[in-house]
Amino acid sequence: MLQTIQIISKEIEAFSSKDAKAIESFRIKMLGKNGIITDMFEQFRAVDPAQKKELGKPLNDLKQLAQQKIQALLEQLSENPESTDTDVDYSLPGIPAPLGSRHPISIINKQILDIFSSIGFGVAEGPEVEDDWHNFTALNFPENHPARDMQDTFFVNEGQLALRTHTSSVQIRVMEKHAPPLRVLAPGRVYRNEAISARAHCQFHQVEGFYVDKQVSFADLKQTLMFFAEKMFGEKTRIRLRPSYFPFTEPSAEMDVSCMFCEQKGCNICKHSGWVEILGCGMIDPAVLNNCGIDPEEYSGFAFGMGVERIAMLKYGVNDLRLFFENDLRVLQQFTFA
Ligand code: PHE
Repeated sequence: MLQTIQIISKEIEAFSSKDAKAIESFRIKMLGKNGIITDMFEQFRAVDPAQKKELGKPLNDLKQLAQQKIQALLEQLSENPESTDTDVDYSLPGIPAPLGSRHPISIINKQILDIFSSIGFGVAEGPEVEDDWHNFTALNFPENHPARDMQDTFFVNEGQLALRTHTSSVQIRVMEKHAPPLRVLAPGRVYRNEAISARAHCQFHQVEGFYVDKQVSFADLKQTLMFFAEKMFGEKTRIRLRPSYFPFTEPSAEMDVSCMFCEQKGCNICKHSGWVEILGCGMIDPAVLNNCGIDPEEYSGFAFGMGVERIAMLKYGVNDLRLFFENDLRVLQQFTFA
């Protein structure tokens, strides 16, 4: 037994830890209910009286050694609770995790959707890889008609599919599936095979809107767009509709808003005209309604489509469209949630 006492005391002396759990399991191992030292005291009871004298002191010393060791380790731990093997100063301020912000195009896109949803428009989406029917034919672009060249198209799959050139394709998808009355917005990415410059990009965003019901008139279109322009650019904003051409609307128009930079005094942005163009619109051509199984004798509708980048440029005074696609944080950080 004396030998065992020696071995155990060496083990106790060698033990060291800065981990509270490890110290506790060491305590249990030595002094717990079934611990080594506890067990030795059990055995001691059975030892004959002559030996007891010889063994009593060393055994008590062993117990004390274990208790002192554990206490010393626990004290060390409570003096310096966080200390580990490395010398890290935990009181130093942390490294901040940078918070992102919304992309300006997302912000404007959401503003457009919010304005129209406040007057009852819902939202629909369609695929970015589109077939000829939804992007062109159903929208009254006759095959081989030069109007198709209005929008330089990226074709996929030997011309049967294309990257959609406008969100007007979603008008068709919704009208084919749902009966009027319909009041729908279709936001999304569109693609055109154009040289990239400060004013044009091969990829941009549009929001399409359309309303089909009985007796929808051009006056409804005008009032709806007027409401939008005032909410987007301010109460004082004026609008102007210029006759234009789109195969899928008749009559068609382009809408200008009064220049928000110079209040129509004339500046570079409005090219000294006092007006800036923001969208295309018109009454949905009866042929388009027919293509979607809607009776043009019973129903009429208007549609409009606007470029989100264009509106963002005007709202934020950004003069180069490319800045929206480069994702330079120095640019993006200037826009806040709205
Ligand atoms: N799709 C047209 C464009 O991309 C915009 C438009 C939409 C015009 C709806 C009229 C009606 O230029």
